[in-house]
Amino acid sequence: MKILVTGGLGFIGSHTVVCLLNQGFEVTIIDNLSNSSISVLEGITRITQESPTFSRIDLRDKQKVADFFEVNQDIDGVIHFAASKAVGESVEKPLLYYENNINTLVYVLQEMRRKQLSNFIFSSSCTVYGQADNLPITEEAPIKKAESPYGNTKQIGERIISDYAKDHKYFKAIALRYFNPVGAHPSAEIGELPIGVPQNLIPFITQTAAGKRDMLSVFGDDYPTEDGTCIRDYIHVMDLAEAHVVALKRLLNKNNGQNYEVFNLGTGKGNSVLEVIKTFEKVTQQKLPYKITARREGDIISAYADTQKANSVLGWKSKYNLADALKSAWKWQQKQE
Ligand code: WQD
Repeated sequence: MKILVTGGLGFIGSHTVVCLLNQGFEVTIIDNLSNSSISVLEGITRITQESPTFSRIDLRDKQKVADFFEVNQDIDGVIHFAASKAVGESVEKPLLYYENNINTLVYVLQEMRRKQLSNFIFSSSCTVYGQADNLPITEEAPIKKAESPYGNTKQIGERIISDYAKDHKYFKAIALRYFNPVGAHPSAEIGELPIGVPQNLIPFITQTAAGKRDMLSVFGDDYPTEDGTCIRDYIHVMDLAEAHVVALKRLLNKNNGQNYEVFNLGTGKGNSVLEVIKTFEKVTQQKLPYKITARREGDIISAYADTQKANSVLGWKSKYNLADALKSAWKWQQKQE
């Protein structure tokens, strides 16, 4: 079985490629290297002893996408990660986000239609829920007005896929709504490669512990939570990668219910920022310098997944806990120069 992974050299994409190769799939990767590096391909090969084919293509180039599908006629499924994903950047550059996250999705789906290809896995995000009214968050939670262009591209992307799936019964798709992906492959051969100052909590923590940043800023401790800091569901990237292969097999084996399904991917446990810091200090046996600063615009108070549907319908459950994820993130950070 040959699987196309777009954005396959990115953080979650690369870990999913490792899982696919380890489970005997043939993989071909498209990535434009705008938020990743060719060294990730070497890391994948060191882990799996396999060399997935790689095409450096910008999916905004419609002709290039068509040419790729013309040459690669034997694709059995597509896992679509390729997208920009920085919430703050999306506020500054909305048109870049709509072009890069929406046009590319449409071009890939148009080629799948032309070739009558089915089996599509879409990288979505819990950000589509905004601040949910009820916790833990189920897939039935209402989709609220997106707080950022990034979140809006995920909502629009899901709608595009569900509309297309409705009209084309042969086409089967699953959208996976990630909570907070963290950690790295246990070998530390691949991991999260933030470019510039990390926006996300875990890479900022590990860079601070490694002395690359002076101090972590905790964005507010006056939220209505136990310790005043925001709560998130931090899911190990290896668990997330595994879930993609489980979802893909569900489609390949025609075990899907409707031809468009949605699953939340989280651990089902929420941790506050201060709890993450304490767990990191315990795991690494070192103090983490931090200060409390003002809240960050757009942050929601609390989000963690109801994992019932993923566990019972998809047949997937997270195996790693927060300490495992932080340990792997730290091991990965220590390997960076
Ligand atoms: C987590 C918590 C911050 C940095 C985003 C996207 C989401 C997904 C994951 C793509 C928050 C606090 C952070 C720092 C801090 N991305 N924090 N100091 O915002 O929950 O989710 O990334 O799919 O779509 O929205 O993740 O890691 O940025 O923040 O105090 O230096 O850590 O306030 O409470 P977030 P995050």
